[in-house]
Amino acid sequence: MTRSIERHLRAQYVLEGAGVPVHRAFPTAGLDQLDPFLLLDHMGPMELAPGDARGFPDHPHRGFETVTYMLEGEFDHADSAGNRGHIETGGAQWMTAGAGLVHSEMPARRLLEEGGHLEGIQLWVNLPRAAKRVPPRYQEVAAAEIPVVDVPGGQARVLSGEAFGAHGPASTHSPILFVHVSVEPDATVTVPSPREQNAFAFFVRGDQADTLHAYAADGDDVEVAGGSSGSEALVLSGAPLREPVARAGPFVMNTREEILEAFDDYEAGRLGRIAAGG
Ligand code: CO
Repeated sequence: MTRSIERHLRAQYVLEGAGVPVHRAFPTAGLDQLDPFLLLDHMGPMELAPGDARGFPDHPHRGFETVTYMLEGEFDHADSAGNRGHIETGGAQWMTAGAGLVHSEMPARRLLEEGGHLEGIQLWVNLPRAAKRVPPRYQEVAAAEIPVVDVPGGQARVLSGEAFGAHGPASTHSPILFVHVSVEPDATVTVPSPREQNAFAFFVRGDQADTLHAYAADGDDVEVAGGSSGSEALVLSGAPLREPVARAGPFVMNTREEILEAFDDYEAGRLGRIAAGG
């Protein structure tokens, strides 16, 4: 049985980081979160001129995971836990901030030198209370590591979870299915979506670009339509944590006291800093 669309929302334009235009699906005035998903931004698309360093310079996180999925372009990552990363078109990084760190995500050196196109997705996934203070972890997933499956009506790439007989390479703290579907014009792709999980589709291409569909818990799969021009959407399902959420800026904890503690720790330098070089 196919889940019905409970809410249909347009993403809102905002500037994030250092001047990066994003379309934010949530949080907005209309939708705070979709437990365990806390934030979903569509960055760009933006054309960088040579020397244009718009990106996400050093900033902290604690208590959740940040996922960056590149639609086009390249980012360099660095964090205070000593990780260095580089992701390119179709690749992803799944970073567990856990107990806390400082990181940066900036256009890669080649983009800074030559200019070019930059477009991606930023997703925040909450961590259960028991995992909010785990040591930071950085998972980098190259495009070639993500299984691509031909499915009726189009194609699917599976970043995490199990779908279409494929196993996504990213490991998660709670069950998360992350599928990027490409749908042919006038076709429909059916994506599995366990009904006990919260689920949405976010369109990045096609007639419904920058639209979010949040699904009701009344079925076990979702249908993504290609429309007249074809479409691409990220279809995510996640087991809800059902825990109190206290959030402020880059920190997401369970209580207000824990948020204040996070700001204190950051200001005292206890989340570390990114070492020079690399
Ligand atoms: Co960040």
